[in-house]
Order: sequence, then C-alpha cells, then structure tokens
Amino acid sequence: MKTKQDQKRVVIFDTTLRDGEQCPGASMGLKEKLEVARQLERLNVDIIEAGFPIASPGDFEAVQAIATQIKKPRICGLARCLNPDIERCAEAVGPAGKRGRIHVFLATSAIHRQYKLKKAKSEIIKLAIAGVKYAKTFVDDIQFSPEDASRTEPDFLAEVVTAVIEAGATTVNIPDTVGYAVPNEFGRLIAELFERVPALSKGVVVHVHCHNDLGLAVANSLMAVQNGARGIECTINGLGERAGNCSLEEAVMALRTRADAFGVSTGINTREIFRASRMVSKLTGMVVQRNKAIVGANAFAHESGIHQHGMLSHRTTYEIMRPEDVGISGSELVLGKHSGRHGLIARLKQLGYTVAPAELGKIYDRFIELADKKKNVYDDDIVSLMHGEDLHGPQSFAIDYLHVSTGTVLPTATVRLKKGAEVFGPASACGDGPVAAMFKAIDLITQVPGTLLDYSIQAVTKGEDAVGEVSVTVRFGEALVVAKGASTDIVEASAKAYLNSLNRYLFEKGQSKKIKAQPRGDQP
Ligand code: KIV
Ligand code: ZN
Repeated sequence: MKTKQDQKRVVIFDTTLRDGEQCPGASMGLKEKLEVARQLERLNVDIIEAGFPIASPGDFEAVQAIATQIKKPRICGLARCLNPDIERCAEAVGPAGKRGRIHVFLATSAIHRQYKLKKAKSEIIKLAIAGVKYAKTFVDDIQFSPEDASRTEPDFLAEVVTAVIEAGATTVNIPDTVGYAVPNEFGRLIAELFERVPALSKGVVVHVHCHNDLGLAVANSLMAVQNGARGIECTINGLGERAGNCSLEEAVMALRTRADAFGVSTGINTREIFRASRMVSKLTGMVVQRNKAIVGANAFAHESGIHQHGMLSHRTTYEIMRPEDVGISGSELVLGKHSGRHGLIARLKQLGYTVAPAELGKIYDRFIELADKKKNVYDDDIVSLMHGEDLHGPQSFAIDYLHVSTGTVLPTATVRLKKGAEVFGPASACGDGPVAAMFKAIDLITQVPGTLLDYSIQAVTKGEDAVGEVSVTVRFGEALVVAKGASTDIVEASAKAYLNSLNRYLFEKGQSKKIKAQPRGDQP
C-alpha cells in the first residue's frame, strides 16, 4: 500500500497524564504529575498531553505547572469544542509559549451523534470548525480529534477532517475511542483518509489514538503507521480508560526492533523506558503484570534450561532486544546504613528524582531508618521510600505509636498520631483484623472517617526483610483517594497508606478552596 506521508519520523504523543490518568483508581496529585512529566521529558517524547484543564482545578493547575516547568516537549491540553473549555485550556498551556497546543475534540460517529450529542452532521461540522477557529485565536498549534472516528462513516469523517484543516488544525488525530477497530480495517481507514482528504498530504500531521478493549491498540497503531500516520498517541504501561491505551514502550520498541519492517523511527530515548514504567506504576498504584512485554519482570528472564543454555551461548538465541536498551541494567548499586548523603543523592538522581534541598534531610532520615531495619537498601526500596509516604511536611498526620494484638484474641489496635510537634490520641479500636482495627482507631482520632474500597499488598523488594507496599483506595465524602505506604512491617505499611490517603484528601480539599472550581458538564 502507498505510504501517504513520507517522513520517516513518528511523533510520540504521550497522554499518560490525561487519558492514562482517566484510568479508574490511577489519579495523581500535582507533585506526582510533575515527576512523571520530568521523566517524559527525559524519555524525549515529542508532546505531553498534560490534562483536561476544564475538568477540575487540579487538572488546570497541573497543566499550567507542567507548561511552566517542562522546557523541551510540546505541552498539550484537551478541550471540548466549547469556548469556556478552550479558554481554560489556552490559559493552562499559555506558559509553554510556542510549544503550547490545544487539542479540541468532538464526537462524529452516528452512535454518538444520535445518543450523546443529539446533533445532525451539519451541526457537528459547524461546531468542529468553530472550536478549531476559536482555539486558533490563542495558539497556532491546534490538534483536532473526531471522537469515535473508527465507527464514523468514512465519507463523513473525511468531510469533518477537510473542514477542520481549512479552519486551521495542524494535527488531525484519528481515535479508535472504544477499541473496536481491527488492524487491517484500521490501516485501510487511514489509507483511505489520505485518499479522500488531499490536504492531509500537505503538512498536516496524522496521529492515531487507539484504545485496547480488544488488546489491539498497539497492532492498530502500527498498522496506521504503515498506512501513513506519523503520530502515535500512547501511555506508559498502556494506562488509560477501561482496558487502556496503546502502550508507549511496546509501540516504540516494535518500531525500533523491527525498523526493517516499518522503515521509520522515533526520537525516544529508550533507555529511559523502564524507569518511566516503574515510576508510573508506583505513582498510580497500577501494578505492571510480570509477563507484560518490554517492562514486565519476566520480559528478560529466562527460566528453562534450554533457554538458559542458548542465552549463555549467545543472547540473540532467545532475546530480540537488549535489556540495557530499555534501561534494565543487570547491576544494582546496593546502599545500606553506612551510605552517606552523597551516595543517596547520586542514586536518587540516577533514579530520576529531583529533590529539593529542604526535603533531603527528611528523606535521608527515612533512608537511615529503613537501612537500620534492612541489611541492603535496593533501588525499589528507594522508589518506595520516595512515593510511599507523604513528603508535604508538618501539616501531614504521621504515626507516633502503633500497637496491634491479633491471633486467637479479638484483633485490637492502639494508635497515636502526630502532626509536626502536636500529638493526637491515643485511641483503641477492635476490628475483623488488625488492619481494620487500626484504620478504625485512626478514624477515631482524626474524626474524618474514610471508607476503604480497595486494599492490596505487594512485596516490592527482595529478601526476607523485603519492603511491603500497600495500596489503598479510600472514599472520603465524595472524594476517592488512592495512596500507598511502604514498610518492612505490613501493618505499619497499611497505616502509612491510610494516613497518606487522608493527608492527600485534606491537602487537596485545602487547595480546592483556594482555586475556583469549574464545572465539567457534558459534551455539547
Ligand atoms: O479516546 C478518545 O477518543 C480520546 C479523545 C479525546 C482523543 O481520548
Ligand atoms: Zn482516549
């Protein structure tokens, strides 16, 4: 099939912080989003979709902070074809200057027109043109997405795409919103779009945005590239709505490993892939399955004797990629209680953390506390230490004293909390188990009761003295908060996770009072 855009470079548009964050239970706070954005910059993605600014004050603040602090990639915000959305988005991406992009979207399929928008084709075209033109009054770089494009009549899709290009769109993104497409058909859709819309071959970039409902997001994206698309919208670890989005690491490594088949390249610094994957997993609490391609714990592990023998003879017998190329190194620098601040700072830097000098003392104290309990402190311990606990300072509740009795007696917990120099409690409570009793005792002290919706525990480091990481999803009033806590003691890890969720809730509640909320509303 004829290639419609001849450039050999595929743009990587990362939407971990927008579509990825829409994954149930994966929401992140400002600090975490900035951490991910810095890692995406190191990864050298071309565009960061940083959020949907009208959706919430937190989203707005995050897009604006990323647009202010991240200096290399383009910074994009999402907006419906509504003037308040576009204005809010323009304000949020404003600090990025010429690197700012507004991404406007409007559904085009018959299903969405009839049931969601209740609008005729002609109205959709009018709204799309108006949205693009209005966005163009703020920035030059405008992306338009016909939502549910893969279920849109191809001739109407071409009509919409032609209209938005005439209105000023510089990138057209073709989403497979519900992950319905199959590779041959999706490839054909892209090829035919180039045939129906001659303007696409004259400097407009075509992206694709595939969801993974049938496990085909990467295959569909690659097929689109083979048919002329030059942008892949993707997320770290394939995070995203429902079954997720196209996985960045899989798409990028497929294009690289099979450059012979695709004949294109990306600008991604693949050695940063593993670090990005681990960071996003930690910050969202979304565990990466062991056998996940590229970044799973088993991706480069060889178990069977025949495979091990082959590997020892020559690694290419059973490996098509080198682990080093995705940032997985065989060696680990082991830190322990004798390590000084310099060693810790160097390791934090290698792991991608930017630590403010004011926070360093606290982090070092925690590191020494952990090193006292564990013989060796591994990279995973440090990552847990960085993300497992709230570092926002004296306004956060922390454990001052914790005692649980369990076994054949009714599980009981006694807890005392502190906040800076202030001490609260003690309070005691009973529960079905020691963790439930301890959560109840915390609620008695704080008087901000939370409902535990989800609880999981994972050993994140090696050895008998491994760090256990607890992830909790807690409802406080209307708010759902996901948080983690790590410790070599699982009851303590649970208490930390629960307190982190409470601290985050209280912190965000305080913040949202400072920023005027914007209603999210429905699409037009
Ligand atoms: O899946 C989708 O259609 C989207 C659009 C906003 C691009 O996320
Ligand atoms: Zn999407």
